[in-house]
Amino acid sequence: MSYEFITVRTEGDKVGIITLNRPKQLNALSPQLMVELGQALKAFDADPAIGCLIITGNEKAFAAGADIGAMATYGFADVYRDDYITRDWETIRSIRKPVIAAVSGFALGGGCELAMMCDFIIAADNARFGQPEIKLGIIPGAGGTQRLPRAVGKSKAMDMALTGRMMDVREAETAGLVSRVVPLDKLMDEALGAALTICGFGQLAVMAAKECVNRAFEGTLADGVMFERRLFHALFATSDQKEGMDAFVNKRQAAFKNQ
Ligand code: HXC
Repeated sequence: MSYEFITVRTEGDKVGIITLNRPKQLNALSPQLMVELGQALKAFDADPAIGCLIITGNEKAFAAGADIGAMATYGFADVYRDDYITRDWETIRSIRKPVIAAVSGFALGGGCELAMMCDFIIAADNARFGQPEIKLGIIPGAGGTQRLPRAVGKSKAMDMALTGRMMDVREAETAGLVSRVVPLDKLMDEALGAALTICGFGQLAVMAAKECVNRAFEGTLADGVMFERRLFHALFATSDQKEGMDAFVNKRQAAFKNQ
């Protein structure tokens, strides 16, 4: 499939890499870009050879937000009728394989929200995060008011959403928004390293771990623990569990078959 606003490639036939590609607009997320992103995510998720996905941008911007020019003339009837955001932005929530955000430069507004919809964020030392929608007379609309407080706590999330200020990468790491910070020129190596590590494990266990951690965001502790326990039990029905434990006991490398 050919795309206009993203590029896609694979690394080692195992990792699917999607690069947001509207550099002149700092990767502003237009409706067409989000449709393409959804298509690429689904295609990689459906490919059994792919074990992990990465979404990235360029040095200056992961994405500077939803495309303000495209939104400027929307009225309530347009966004409600077309189910704006819900229709095209949330495909990523249905992706079952891990999705890593490799962020350099600006991750603002919808760009910050897209990064937070990924499973974890690896950031370059020049990354900057923010929810500046308040300056435009709106609020975050792709989950920012919900995911940011879960990631960094209420006080910082309120500060970001109400003042529109940016957070540098050190603050983002200390607050728990990003999992790792690396020099800019090492960003893709680091993200690929993490992705290839994940690809070395059994896909069933990887998908189960992702599903369980996501439960922690969306339900009660008791429900989450029960959900985890059931999937933990279920993994004892897989050959990958037998293989992984036999390999450890016999001091050899495990060869998972995703079964
Ligand atoms: C459309 C954008 C854009 C955006 C930047 N550009 N961000 N176009 N939508 N979100 C365009 C600029 O208009 C400009 O185009 C070019 O990219 C370069 O941007 P500059 O402003 O010249 O760059 P710089 O001076 O380095 O400033 C960078 C910046 C600034 C601080 C990131 O561009 C900025 O504040 N952008 C808007 C950030 C924002 O408000 N994001 C939230 C959007 S609302 P030209 O043609 O002039 O060269 C949102 C809502 C989410 O995301 C709701 C649910 C999805």
